[in-house]
Amino acid sequence: MYLIIGANGFLGTYLLKNILEKTEDEIVAVARNIEHVRNDKRIKWVGCDISDHGQAQSFCGEMKQYRELKVIFLAAYHNPDLVEKNPELAWNVNVTALSYFINRLEHVKCLFYPSTDSVYGNSVDGYRYRESDGLHPVNTYGRQKCAAESVIKWYGYNVVRYPFLIAPSLSPVKKHFYDVIVENLSSGRPMEMFTDSYRSSLNFDTAAGLLIDLMEGYSESVPKILNICGDEALSKYDIGLLMADKLGVSRELVRPITVAESEGIFDAKRAQSTLMDNRQLKAVLGLQQIRFVL
Ligand SMILES: NC(=O)c1ccc[n+]([C@@H]2O[C@H](COP(=O)([O-])OP(=O)(O)OC[C@H]3O[C@@H](n4cnc5c(N)ncnc54)[C@H](OP(=O)(O)O)[C@@H]3O)[C@@H](O)[C@H]2O)c1
Repeated sequence: MYLIIGANGFLGTYLLKNILEKTEDEIVAVARNIEHVRNDKRIKWVGCDISDHGQAQSFCGEMKQYRELKVIFLAAYHNPDLVEKNPELAWNVNVTALSYFINRLEHVKCLFYPSTDSVYGNSVDGYRYRESDGLHPVNTYGRQKCAAESVIKWYGYNVVRYPFLIAPSLSPVKKHFYDVIVENLSSGRPMEMFTDSYRSSLNFDTAAGLLIDLMEGYSESVPKILNICGDEALSKYDIGLLMADKLGVSRELVRPITVAESEGIFDAKRAQSTLMDNRQLKAVLGLQQIRFVL
């Protein structure tokens, strides 16, 4: 039995897709708002605000009927600009609610917590961060993710660190940046995209599929911290060009812009580039390459 907390978001909906495709498991899927969700006879949706201790406690009580839970905890307050503006509210969801919840959840076979490349900080000269490297986040979002990782680590559960993820939103009510790019380029509207900011980016579907592969093959030997990322160092501009080619529109619609030219766009500081090393993940899953596909 899978339990997905935060299942109606961008990553959650791709995880549901991959669990349905790759396993025979039933799924308990949790979010605050469960009005517009994917319905399937194997998915049981439960509305629960995990930052409300009463609701979280009662939900964990109901989950005691299940054994061998495979848990993915996605619920987060994670827009870096909003976290910078409302750090206490963000901490309540990102750290306090997480800690309260996992302290009450029983019968866990394994629990995976998606963290972010933002915990590492800036990559200098194309350096690819390894899981054992020190953490130097440059904003409050990254620092709160470090705190959340510590809670998970000291509980003995698993952290996976994701890069920038992109793909069409599977939610009928929420557009992803991908959808905005498609809308603009298809209507002939240009998009400015960074040329000098690199990430080890992945498509949401690949990112979700790799996590489910890890969980299906779970044993205590799976490293407690793992980077899940692609082989290539890609700028948003590179991704924009790939999307223009896929849509069959002119590459000229993707306008190059540098990070220095973007002064004032973001409230929270961003690392210019953050690249991650994926050798441990490849060794665990026996993979030769992990490509970015659109
Ligand atoms: N997307 C990326 O590129 C990326 C990269 C690295 C790491 N991550 C991490 O992956 C996780 C999921 O990201 P995402 O992109 O899928 O975000 P998302 O689309 O915002 O999904 C977050 C989910 O959490 C739920 N949620 C938020 N607060 C909640 C609460 N108090 N109680 C219950 N559910 C709550 C949301 O549903 P409701 O609003 O309906 O409650 C939603 O289902 C986050 O931890 C994020 O930091 C994402």
